[in-house]
Amino acid sequence: MKFFVDTADTAAIADLNALGMVDGVTTNPSLILKSGRDILEVTREICEMVEGPVSAEVVATEADAMITEGRKLAAIAPNIAVKLPLTWDGLKACRMLTDEGHMVNVTLCFSANQALLAAKAGATFISPFIGRLDDINLDGMELIADIRTIYDNYGFETQILAASIRSVNHVTVAARIGADVATLPPEVLRKLAFHPLTDKGLETFLSDWAKTGQSIL
Ligand code: G3P
Repeated sequence: MKFFVDTADTAAIADLNALGMVDGVTTNPSLILKSGRDILEVTREICEMVEGPVSAEVVATEADAMITEGRKLAAIAPNIAVKLPLTWDGLKACRMLTDEGHMVNVTLCFSANQALLAAKAGATFISPFIGRLDDINLDGMELIADIRTIYDNYGFETQILAASIRSVNHVTVAARIGADVATLPPEVLRKLAFHPLTDKGLETFLSDWAKTGQSIL
């Protein structure tokens, strides 16, 4: 499973990049607002920090304007994935930008039928939003499983990019299902390593080691 970091906070990306756990980055208009930065400037900086795909989202809603914005975003760096919303205009722009050789991440996916359309439009990534389905008492993970089954049935190469991840359990279940990528808020990624028994066990080992009076070096 690839881990993308879901943020436009370059300090957070740098911290996690140092751990060797950043396979890519996803941003969106809300994350750009939260960063307080210019979209082109911060996206360029992120593309220089991370080798993997960096998703930058268009804000136009009509296909031709989406394509124009998408080309501008794609020109920032070779590792840009243009993010497009799952609308008919977004799917049309996806087909055009994909045919031009650009990576495309189709986002705001909430149904298996939407994901099927994105794959048929040639999307590089599909971003089903788990947390937002859970928020309205639907099962976000069921969507991930349905997409996995459908894509495998037909050999679609579109990568499932599990998004709107709110907990470490979302990561576990998405990985069990076989999502190709999970895009994680920095705080969720950091939590993946934590287990109280690990901390307790290490404390005991170090305490017992201290009693040996020995040194490895
Ligand atoms: O990548 C999509 C993600 O940023 C949305 O997360 O928690 O706002 O649903 P959330």
